Amino acid sequence: MGGIDLALSRGGIHGLAGESGSGKTMTALAVLGLLPGGMTASGSIRLADTEGPGAGSDSGFTELVGAPRGVLQGVRGRRVAMVFQDPSTSLHPQLPVGRQLTDHMRHHLGLGKPEARAKAEALLDRVRVPDARGALSKYPHQFSGGQRQRIAIAVALACDPTVLLADEPTTALDVTVQAGVLQLLRELADGGDLSILLVTHDLGVMSAVADEVTVMRQGLVVESAPRQQLFTAPRDEYTRSLLAALPGSSFEQAGEDAR
Ligand SMILES: Nc1ncnc2c1ncn2[C@@H]1O[C@H](COP(=O)(O)OP(=O)(O)OP(=O)(O)O)[C@@H](O)[C@H]1O
Ligand SMILES: [Mg+2]
Repeated sequence: MGGIDLALSRGGIHGLAGESGSGKTMTALAVLGLLPGGMTASGSIRLADTEGPGAGSDSGFTELVGAPRGVLQGVRGRRVAMVFQDPSTSLHPQLPVGRQLTDHMRHHLGLGKPEARAKAEALLDRVRVPDARGALSKYPHQFSGGQRQRIAIAVALACDPTVLLADEPTTALDVTVQAGVLQLLRELADGGDLSILLVTHDLGVMSAVADEVTVMRQGLVVESAPRQQLFTAPRDEYTRSLLAALPGSSFEQAGEDAR
């Protein structure tokens, strides 16, 4: 199989949709060079350089497919970060939240202890964890699911990545909490420097926050379009069937309006 063509833009949220098993997670893992054993990516995955001689130019990018281990290790967590459905995946249960944030910063960015701590507090503030200073010395289990996902996002952002891969980040949360986390992702993207790939099987989630939406099926992209266009005038039959299946779908109506 093959044929996944998508581009993330700075300050944008790119939604990746599709039914279970369509290849959304594998696409995200391929970016990090973390495909499970036996699977390899072919083609090209290019990460724009924001530092170094080629920064900002068309030729200033790092090729990630087939990149040496050292290059991928430098990219992971630092230039490209990931959050998962279950925030515990990225949080250590027995380390205070502050340590988890500062360890990354001190290791990757070479920050001293006081600077790292100040930055950790600012990050928790940015993801709207209440009482950021107090939160630094608490453990993950002392927070609600929604707060834990915010903390996992803060950990992902600790080293100022340019790309955030978010794989079903709100799927395990209550609907009301979901909305808050999606709003946060929107704010982070609107901050300007971060590109977000938002993986979700839930097109309702997409309609709320994504700028562009790509729909996958059986490991291939079937359609990619700006959100508005995808929801009002989808070109692909499969996309239409997904939209029609949305609860309380007004798609038929919206489709009519668009014509
Ligand atoms: N591009 C591809 N080429 C070959 N095989 C693929 C590709 N994408 C996915 N697969 C196969 O499909 C399986 C499921 O893919 P993946 O876990 O990415 O699905 P998903 O869309 O994330 O599903 P879910 O919504 O259940 O998380 C993979 O384990 C892999 O075997
Ligand atoms: Mg998945």
